[in-house]
Amino acid sequence: MCGIVGYIGSRSAQQVLLSGLARLEYRGYDSAGVAIMDGEQIQVRKKAGKLANLSGELLALPLSGTLGIGHTRWATHGLPNDTNAHPHATEDGRLVIIHNGIIENYLTLKEGLMARGHVFLSQTDSEVLAHLIEEKYDLVNGNLYEAVRQALSEVRGAYGIVVTHALHREIVAARTVSPLVMGVGEGEMFLASDVPALLPYTRRMVFLHDGDMVVLSDDGFRVTDLAGNAVARTVEQIDWDAEAAEKGGYDTYMLKEIYEQPVALTNTLIGRLHDETGEVNLDIDLDPSSFKRISIIACGTAYYAGLVGEYLIEQLARIPVEVDVASEYRYRDPLVSKDTLAIVISQSGETIDTLEALREAKRGGARTLGIINAKGSSMTRELDDTLYIHAGPEIGVASTKAYTSMVGAMLMLALWLARARGTLTQEAGKELLHAARALPRLVEEALEPARVERIKAVAEKYAHSRDYLFLGRGVNAPTALEGALKLKEISYIHAEGYAAGEMKHGPIALIDAALPVVVVATESRLLEKTISNVQEVRARGGQVILLLSDGDTENAQHADEVLYVPRSHEMVSPVVNVVALQLLSYFTAAHLGRDVDKPRNLAKSVTVE
Ligand code: F6R
Repeated sequence: MCGIVGYIGSRSAQQVLLSGLARLEYRGYDSAGVAIMDGEQIQVRKKAGKLANLSGELLALPLSGTLGIGHTRWATHGLPNDTNAHPHATEDGRLVIIHNGIIENYLTLKEGLMARGHVFLSQTDSEVLAHLIEEKYDLVNGNLYEAVRQALSEVRGAYGIVVTHALHREIVAARTVSPLVMGVGEGEMFLASDVPALLPYTRRMVFLHDGDMVVLSDDGFRVTDLAGNAVARTVEQIDWDAEAAEKGGYDTYMLKEIYEQPVALTNTLIGRLHDETGEVNLDIDLDPSSFKRISIIACGTAYYAGLVGEYLIEQLARIPVEVDVASEYRYRDPLVSKDTLAIVISQSGETIDTLEALREAKRGGARTLGIINAKGSSMTRELDDTLYIHAGPEIGVASTKAYTSMVGAMLMLALWLARARGTLTQEAGKELLHAARALPRLVEEALEPARVERIKAVAEKYAHSRDYLFLGRGVNAPTALEGALKLKEISYIHAEGYAAGEMKHGPIALIDAALPVVVVATESRLLEKTISNVQEVRARGGQVILLLSDGDTENAQHADEVLYVPRSHEMVSPVVNVVALQLLSYFTAAHLGRDVDKPRNLAKSVTVE
């Protein structure tokens, strides 16, 4: 994901920017650039590829100056080339911006700006910000802060934006969704998208909140909201080492990534949902009427996202879907034809079984689509189309935020197919779209401290169980499977996941007083049936841990433990519900002293058969 570094003070800006960007390299990127102010001139240098390409050029031909902004870009709109790299400047080169995030209404803004004579050089959504701010700048008599503020009032989307102007020795920045942190020095100020970039320079930091704007000068900063009202933000003393900083102050990457899910989901959904029309724009070159069946292929957690996808696509778009574990698909001589759309799902884009299954599908003549997190990964080079989930780097071995973003992407795909094939009315489309839009907020609610504390207490109470059973039905049957996988991989407790209705066909024999049974029993068409399955467990002395929708006090009587989760539309509920199961696994494993980020015998990316 993109990285941002800004500096104003008396050091060489080039040196601060390059060292800061290098500390953000672990987040992944495909181009890099800096803008440095020298007197009343701003010089921009940017290069596709690794930071070393840019730093090599800057070492040969250094830029002097003590104010600058730098960026590493992970392409969303437009190819990863020199022109699309940030910073972006206005035609006169005086105003320069960098931007993380996605501007949802950039096309409308761009059309207006072009009609008013602005010339665009890149294909990025970000460049509209430079032109829009320039226009406002003239209207507000050269007040840079006010120009940025007014421009942002016309922008819809997610942004961490940083702006500088040749006639102002200051940096103006703002954020919504995309993170920004300020570093406070003596006679110097720093800015970054992430703490590690600033650690060598200062430990005094200010975490900007959503909707904050800030002006940085040599001797300090001032924060306002987007309406221009002053806002007080405290300077915090950060004592993290480099590793703790990469974990954002959390104990583990996994926990950090669980908490990153609202932002990751926002990034998955942003710019793709159109409330007014109930339409979804996926920016893929796929003809929705060109195939008659869909084959979803993936491994592990990604496979479970595929199972949710099967349910959503068949329900909403009425296309037959089959889901395969990639290691089986590649050897079972599958029936593939030109009528098949093969969808591979992968966080890393490198899993060898999935990659080989993709090749098998291609050999059979299928059209291929990937739901992928890692840009530029092997699969993306072989796929016909890629729908990136934009979840950001996932470092913890156990997948969490990639899973919820994959399910979010499957939901959008199902909606897109359904609308294109006329199986979903505009009204129903709008309802689901609203439900999808609510996901980041609902996941944030699922992470409220009181809920997390409750899950932790339950996890610790049952942490010494030998086995666990997870049950769910319908669209949440895969949630149960994912809950069981998460628990076994990080806690090493044996866990099974089952479709609740299937329990009586065998697993019921396992049930006794020592077996905790987690049942996803949130609001759904099948809730009554799920509760019947719960009764079957209770009748055999099993310990029932029920996931119930907020406010469902009636069904609480059937449980030994209740974990309440925020209410959500049934079709999107797997995203909200799984968060409680991720936390249950996490706290179980942490209580048992497991190395949560590096579970035994597992690797983040499985590139061997
Ligand atoms: C489980 C987990 C694995 C991966 C699987 C596929 O937490 O992380 O099951 O989901 O190895 O990996 P990707 O998505 O990279 O293809």
